[in-house]
Amino acid sequence: MNAIRRLATPLRLGRIEIPNRVFLAPMSGVTDEPFRARAVKHGAGLVVSEMVASGELMKGRRNSTLRIRRPDVPVHVVQLAGREAAAMAEGARIAAGEGADIVDINMGCPAKKVTGGYCGSALMRDPDHALALVEAVVGAVSVPVTVKMRLGWDHDHLNAPEIARRAQEAGVAMVTVHGRTRDQLYNGRANWRAIRAVKEAVTIPVVANGDVGTLADAAAMLDQSGADAVMIGRGHYGAPWLAGRIAAEAAGSGTDSESDISDYVISHYDDMLTFYGSIQGVRHARKHLGWYLDRHAPGTPPELRRAVMTALEPAAVIAALRAAFAARQMRSAA
Ligand SMILES: Cc1cc2nc3c(=O)[nH]c(=O)nc-3n(C[C@H](O)[C@H](O)[C@H](O)COP(=O)(O)O)c2cc1C
Repeated sequence: MNAIRRLATPLRLGRIEIPNRVFLAPMSGVTDEPFRARAVKHGAGLVVSEMVASGELMKGRRNSTLRIRRPDVPVHVVQLAGREAAAMAEGARIAAGEGADIVDINMGCPAKKVTGGYCGSALMRDPDHALALVEAVVGAVSVPVTVKMRLGWDHDHLNAPEIARRAQEAGVAMVTVHGRTRDQLYNGRANWRAIRAVKEAVTIPVVANGDVGTLADAAAMLDQSGADAVMIGRGHYGAPWLAGRIAAEAAGSGTDSESDISDYVISHYDDMLTFYGSIQGVRHARKHLGWYLDRHAPGTPPELRRAVMTALEPAAVIAALRAAFAARQMRSAA
């Protein structure tokens, strides 16, 4: 079967059936509950929560609790970050208790505040410790446990295949690999071919990640990596439908014709205000609104953009958004 058709086929993970092989990547500050619910509605095969620090979860912090709440999705994946095996195990129990169908362990985050705390991709520098943590999480919950990692810390330490193999032995059900090292941060291009070494080291499904924006990219990534599925992050900026659209294109089925973009964005805005409450929601929504403007109304006059990005009253933000999208239509009609 060619890679395009494969993207549209289901993937089984124990008792969980994932309807297709195009996933939304976890992105802290982006893939919150409203975003993931949308992505699933558009047809994404799987969505993953923003990472949740296990220590914060144990303290019951509101932001962490919001991150693990079950959205309206068929498969709820909670991603945990942390460095202490006991705290990660407890975090996994809390997440499963809140309805997580899968617990994912973050071994890929390059952020200083995460790696400085010796979690995220820093775990890859100490495979023995990383594996102790994986074993603790697997032992703590009955739901499948997955791991998301990078190729390694740097080019001299491409140990993703070894860690994936050991994680599989410890009972991990699937691994995702972002085709960059920690050293690369987000620079350069993701190396899809390098992910093949992980695929060859394990029999569990491997998900490839990094720099996919189109169906052609997704198919090329599957071909080059040999992976079983693809995961897309930043391509979703201003386009929560991207994974679903690529899966539909792969299936050869028509994609839902774009509803009015201005109505779409305003309905997403409303969802965020409802989820976070008006005050926090107005601030949180700004990055999304900026991406929507960049993508769908490039050339928005600066004063209109400023109004969208700084107004405190939702009604004023909505009026500025409508004006920005109307101005785009007038420009494209001219
Ligand atoms: C703003 C942002 C937040 C991210 N947060 C997380 C996270 O919480 N957990 C995680 O495993 N990866 C996180 N990542 C990494 C992405 O999941 C993904 O691996 C990376 O962006 C490469 O994929 P892409 O090129 O499709 O964006 C984040 C990336 C970005 C840009």
